[in-house]
Amino acid sequence: MNECPISKIAGTGFAVPDKILTNQDLEKIVDTSDEWITSRTGIKTRHIVSDDVENSDLCVEASKKALDEAGVRNEDIDVIIVATVTGDVNFPATACYVQEKLGAVNAAAFDVMAACSGFIYGLNIGNGLFIANNVQNVIVIGSETLTRITNWEDRNTCVLFGDGAGAAVLQPSTGDKGILATYMKSDGRLSYLLMNPGHNPIKEYFDHEGKKMLPVINMQGREVFKYAVRSMEEAMYKVLERGNVSINDVDLLITHQANIRIIDTLAERTGINREKVYINVDRYGNTSAASVPIALDEARKKGLLPEGSLCLMTVFGGGFTWGAVLVRF
Ligand code: COA
Repeated sequence: MNECPISKIAGTGFAVPDKILTNQDLEKIVDTSDEWITSRTGIKTRHIVSDDVENSDLCVEASKKALDEAGVRNEDIDVIIVATVTGDVNFPATACYVQEKLGAVNAAAFDVMAACSGFIYGLNIGNGLFIANNVQNVIVIGSETLTRITNWEDRNTCVLFGDGAGAAVLQPSTGDKGILATYMKSDGRLSYLLMNPGHNPIKEYFDHEGKKMLPVINMQGREVFKYAVRSMEEAMYKVLERGNVSINDVDLLITHQANIRIIDTLAERTGINREKVYINVDRYGNTSAASVPIALDEARKKGLLPEGSLCLMTVFGGGFTWGAVLVRF
């Protein structure tokens, strides 16, 4: 355990597009039903970005709220980290567009690509920056426009995803509040189970049925499900051990919001009281890197993370990547 946490979360915020797509709307697009989606995933609605909004716009909206709460002026931001797989353009980094739109002229800005695990990877990197870079304000954003890389003819995947952004401002920790323990892990051997090959000019990718993958989200759901449970469970135990606390000490568990059955299985396997598990997958679907920071801000604004409370966040995503962070508020 870090005897003295290096950094703390000083402000959070989130943004989702106004447009909502319901399960009933999806029944008109693919051969599915509200009953199937609800019972297999727990998802009821998801927010969909409109054509005139860029990923960086969602980032900016979420960031302004987080910066406001932390009392940080845009020119005092030292580093902007955006976790995303759906950046505005291939390069430069979406974080650079966020920098421009915020007028954060003194910041360094870069993206992190760790799919749905990106926000936790970003928190981990952001936390580390306080050791060697003399920074005071780091903003970590998880933001996605996943519905732009969704295959709307594939009922296996199109019912799952939504758009949104969440942000957290990190500042030097004072006292015992802040990030107590972190864990990150990847397994590139399993990349083919969840990927978007994009428009690759030299190589074609094929799925498990031998079909050429389109430049959209391709996923073998059942396999992903199993690894998601095992990996997040592993990550949870790693940070509990590193933080020298037990699952019973945790006041709120925020897992990646991908599927209610994954969250339920995790709660059952780790024995955490179900009332301590935050859930919003029903309203937003899987927003990838944005999922945990959206849930974190909602939970804080609902008063579920008062001063002194212990929050465990865990994620899993394409790569595969997974991780966890333990934070004392
Ligand atoms: N509506 C109706 N039927 C559907 C459907 C839909 N939207 N999507 C799939 N089905 C069908 C399948 O075609 C299959 O039919 P069959 O038995 O006739 O072949 C049946 O439902 C069962 O499919 P299966 O894939 O086994 O369902 P599942 O219980 O595993 O649920 C997922 C599918 C995708 C919801 C689930 O596997 C999952 O959540 N996986 C993890 C996804 C995830 O978390 N991804 C992101 C990680 S970061």
